[in-house]
Amino acid sequence: MMPDLFEGDARQALDEGAVLLRGQALPIDTMLLAAIETISSQSPFRRMTTPGGFQMSVAMTNCGSVGWVTDRSGYRYAARDPDRDTPWPAMPPQFAGLAGDAARQAGFAGFSPDACLINCYEPGARLSLHQDKDEQDYRHPVVSVSLGLPAIFQFGGLRRTDRPQRVPLRHGDIVVWGGPARLAYHGVLALKDGVHPLVGRRRLNLTFRKAL
Ligand code: SIN
Ligand code: FE2
Repeated sequence: MMPDLFEGDARQALDEGAVLLRGQALPIDTMLLAAIETISSQSPFRRMTTPGGFQMSVAMTNCGSVGWVTDRSGYRYAARDPDRDTPWPAMPPQFAGLAGDAARQAGFAGFSPDACLINCYEPGARLSLHQDKDEQDYRHPVVSVSLGLPAIFQFGGLRRTDRPQRVPLRHGDIVVWGGPARLAYHGVLALKDGVHPLVGRRRLNLTFRKAL
């Protein structure tokens, strides 16, 4: 039967604890994009400053009860949008539902994110290798949803010097990493120029985490 075949092809292990779910967000892509429009009309995308004083090439906003921020004083989760001094827009229930489903398929049942970082990459924007480690409890996985232009995701090991795999991510793909892979180094190579029919000249990424 088709579904099994399709499931087999759609699911790709990257490492122990890390899975790529091909096209998993496609059935709800237009809902996700409309919600991102609404959220970013309230808390706009902005290019934040790293503790080292560099402006990031990726523009970011958040939804959820807390949002990831960086400035000269460090990386952290904040309950308010520092640009507006208001709470972040609420996380749409469909966002949390998608992230919970993906996590369950990757072997992490019961994932209930409180933070959704929304990244906007324009051509040339990149994210250098890093670990996600500003969260309180590493037993919760990270769920990452790709929309728009394709990108090369670097997925490495637990040491910065571990040579990362290059994983092409396309519109609708979801990557989940947790358990033994929770602190894997990862990043995104400079976005190649192009135009996506629904998203335009951009890549959008949703990163779901349980921060608190
Ligand atoms: C992230 O590491 O926060 C985002 C990764 C991505 O944009 O795919
Ligand atoms: Fe990350």
